[in-house]
Amino acid sequence: MKITVINGTEKHGVTYRLKEIFLERFREKAEITEFYLPKDCPSFCSGCVNCILRSEHRCKDIAYTQKIAAALLESDLIVMASPAYVMHTTGSMKALLDHFAYLWMPHRPAPEMFTKRAVIITQCLGAGAKSAAKDIKHSLSWWGISNITVFAGKLMGDIVWEQLADKKRSELTKKMNRLSGQLSCIHYEKPPRVNAITRIKFLFCRMMQKSLHKNDPEYLDGKYWAERGWLGKIRPWRA
Ligand SMILES: Cc1cc2nc3c(=O)[nH]c(=O)nc-3n(C[C@H](O)[C@H](O)[C@H](O)COP(=O)(O)O)c2cc1C
Repeated sequence: MKITVINGTEKHGVTYRLKEIFLERFREKAEITEFYLPKDCPSFCSGCVNCILRSEHRCKDIAYTQKIAAALLESDLIVMASPAYVMHTTGSMKALLDHFAYLWMPHRPAPEMFTKRAVIITQCLGAGAKSAAKDIKHSLSWWGISNITVFAGKLMGDIVWEQLADKKRSELTKKMNRLSGQLSCIHYEKPPRVNAITRIKFLFCRMMQKSLHKNDPEYLDGKYWAERGWLGKIRPWRA
């Protein structure tokens, strides 16, 4: 199996430790590709909208974004790891997610995304891990992923892994081991169920694309939907 990990920070801090504990169980059986932000995508989206109106290959940051997009599309499991910064995900993670606006369902979702699984690992000192996870989940769900597991931890004490109280460190370790235990038992060759929310979002976007395509058959997003048969009876999650 293939796993792609996006680390929202380059720091080998608590998020890194939790993510490492999670991956331990997969190391033998999975091919793991990791990206560290901002190193692996140091630029901000400039808002040129080339990706949306012309092609994702027209992005000025294509050298970074398409490498990450290709790894995401090839993976069976996506792992997104980020600490909470001012109640949200890190700026680097948000900057990467901005680059993938074209993958959102109202534009040109990748059919592969509808059958993927994802896990989001966030943690914070006291409050903000849940909203950081929500920032990431928002993008993932609009990319078409239904099966998203969230881990949002609170340290409530020291913020350095080695200095955490033993009880807290072992509680977090146990929780991460339980999570990786659950996710490593899955038969990844069997696609997950596409949930009702994803289907409703898809139908709503389909209605919009149908009308856009009718008004302007050359409009990129509408054309993309029409070419894949999604304006008819074909659905991206059915093989
Ligand atoms: C810029 C910045 C903003 C932060 N904002 C919050 C916050 O809003 N809520 C919180 O509980 N902790 C906050 N923290 C603390 C971190 O979430 C916490 O120390 C976390 O364990 C850092 O993870 P890391 O070791 O993986 O970097 C913030 C830390 C930084 C550096």
